[in-house]
Amino acid sequence: MPKKAIVRRRSETETAPVKRGSLHRINDDNGFKRIGVLTGGGDCPGLNAVLRAVVKTAILNHGWEVVGIEEGFEGLLTPGKTHPLELKDVRGLLPRGGTILGSTNRGNPFEFRQVKGKKAAVVDISDVAMKTYKKLGLDALIVIGGDGSLKIALRFAEKGMNVIGVPKTIDNDLMATDSTFGFRTAVMTATEAIDKLHTTAESHHRAMVVEVMGRYVGWIALESGLAGGADIILIPEIPYDIKKVCEKIRARSDSGSKFSIIVVAEGAKPRGGGVTVLAQKKAEHALERLGGVGNRVAAQIEELTGVETRVTVLGHLQRGGTPTSFDRILSTRFGVAAVGLVKEGLFGRMVCYRNFQIESVRIQEAVGAFKAVDPDGQFVRTAEAIGIAFGR
Ligand code: F6P
Repeated sequence: MPKKAIVRRRSETETAPVKRGSLHRINDDNGFKRIGVLTGGGDCPGLNAVLRAVVKTAILNHGWEVVGIEEGFEGLLTPGKTHPLELKDVRGLLPRGGTILGSTNRGNPFEFRQVKGKKAAVVDISDVAMKTYKKLGLDALIVIGGDGSLKIALRFAEKGMNVIGVPKTIDNDLMATDSTFGFRTAVMTATEAIDKLHTTAESHHRAMVVEVMGRYVGWIALESGLAGGADIILIPEIPYDIKKVCEKIRARSDSGSKFSIIVVAEGAKPRGGGVTVLAQKKAEHALERLGGVGNRVAAQIEELTGVETRVTVLGHLQRGGTPTSFDRILSTRFGVAAVGLVKEGLFGRMVCYRNFQIESVRIQEAVGAFKAVDPDGQFVRTAEAIGIAFGR
């Protein structure tokens, strides 16, 4: 993959000879554009599929140039971290997990941690990114990211950058979109794991606790628990009472089911308690690392019921692998629509998926608040109707 930074002036590209009627020049009634694209925050299956769709749509339909910014916004802060994305660069990307551009959830240009000698300070170096954006001759920047990256995009929009957002996260916690790509792949991975744990749980008459990701919402736990036939699902939106959890396990045992599957969201918390963290926030703007609640719940189950209990923490397995067909299609639709917003000049907006249609909303409407599971909504009621307990 070429790693050269683009330094060509816009005018040079504009005056470059273009073959009349060439495939790369159709529908181009709005002038030439050079657009940047970056992937920010935690990776998730489908990112590469969005990149492929952006590059294909921009080149095949408009004859535009696409510049890949490497490692999220860091690519706008460090020289040499941009390169052209051409059709050949996106060949074979549709089924590939991860992101060919790299990603990071550090390096917010507005709150950048700068270390000088023994001193560390948080500084605003967003002007450096603005300069790079201008130097590259970009007409717009497509930011593929979750809540954190989209908030940064919004701040750049306020500084005059033409940003378009594409929502991604396995957690499915973004407002304004019914679904993010990556979520269904993560649910599939977790479901397959639960299926496998069923057989070993049954053979050994054990309780199996599966800790899944999801940050502060319980979508992955709820949907994989439903799809995998869990007996108990613990989610942040319904703080659990460990006694109720144990009651359910005992009741199953008494009725002849000598094993239980308990799916626990990493953000699940006991009634009156808080989340379990692996590492505290390193700085005001940083994120705490959730994790450990599975072990906590398992130890309590074993102690209170006497049932031998094991824990599986699925962790980053949920972020890897090939996207499901749904996620490939959603990613493709998002990528095409994001280029469409650039074409229309509808900046500061994010593509979203609502009622099976691709639409767009102002980025403000999508960030800041999490889309949580409704504790009394249809999903939870469906699960409870078939006997799944939530520890309440
Ligand atoms: O937001 C996606 C996510 O995978 C969460 O589910 C999880 O809490 C977090 O990212 C893990 O982040 P990291 O990759 O930094 O450990």
